[in-house]
Amino acid sequence: MNDDLKALIRTIPDFPKPGIQFRDITTLLLDAGGFAQTIARMAAATLGPVDLIAGIEARGFIFAAALAAPLNAGVLLIRKDGKLPGATIAEDYALEYGEDRIVMHEDALVPGQRVLLVDDLIATGGTARAAVRLLRKAGAELRQAQFVIDLPELGGADALRAEKIQVDSLLS
Ligand code: PRP
Ligand code: ADE
Repeated sequence: MNDDLKALIRTIPDFPKPGIQFRDITTLLLDAGGFAQTIARMAAATLGPVDLIAGIEARGFIFAAALAAPLNAGVLLIRKDGKLPGATIAEDYALEYGEDRIVMHEDALVPGQRVLLVDDLIATGGTARAAVRLLRKAGAELRQAQFVIDLPELGGADALRAEKIQVDSLLS
């Protein structure tokens, strides 16, 4: 089953920079059964009820939005800087291939709400750790982060676990 999903992920060498093996989820999304199974498995792996699913721009939005109905939760958008219209809080982070800043609306959640963090992939964990800082700054109760793909050699999942987050991924 794992192998079935893995076969739907395409690897593109040297994108967006030389030396990066880019794990491309667009081929998984094109496969109706594979995408449905991905969402079903992420929903089944979710710890307890959650109020909100926080998705990270852009690929994380796809999985967070698809999980909203099965988990009966709202979707909180964590975006790249300059895209949200309301007052925001921000965190900077380093990426495997660059630097960036993520933001969320400062009033997107009520302190104490239970939030599940979702993204397509964790590599260095810089993005996810910035998202955790952001969500905790806003008062979220954050127990778990889920990814479709973990690149374990880059250490991101372990770094996130050190922040007392349960990390679950479908593929590594
Ligand atoms: C990718 C991916 C994760 C992040 C993982 O996003 O979707 O958000 O990198 O890398 P890290 O664990 O080293 O931080 P990217 O910034 O490329 O944006 P995109 O989803 O808009 O393509
Ligand atoms: N984000 C960070 N590293 C990545 C990789 N190797 N493939 C796809 N997305 C990524």
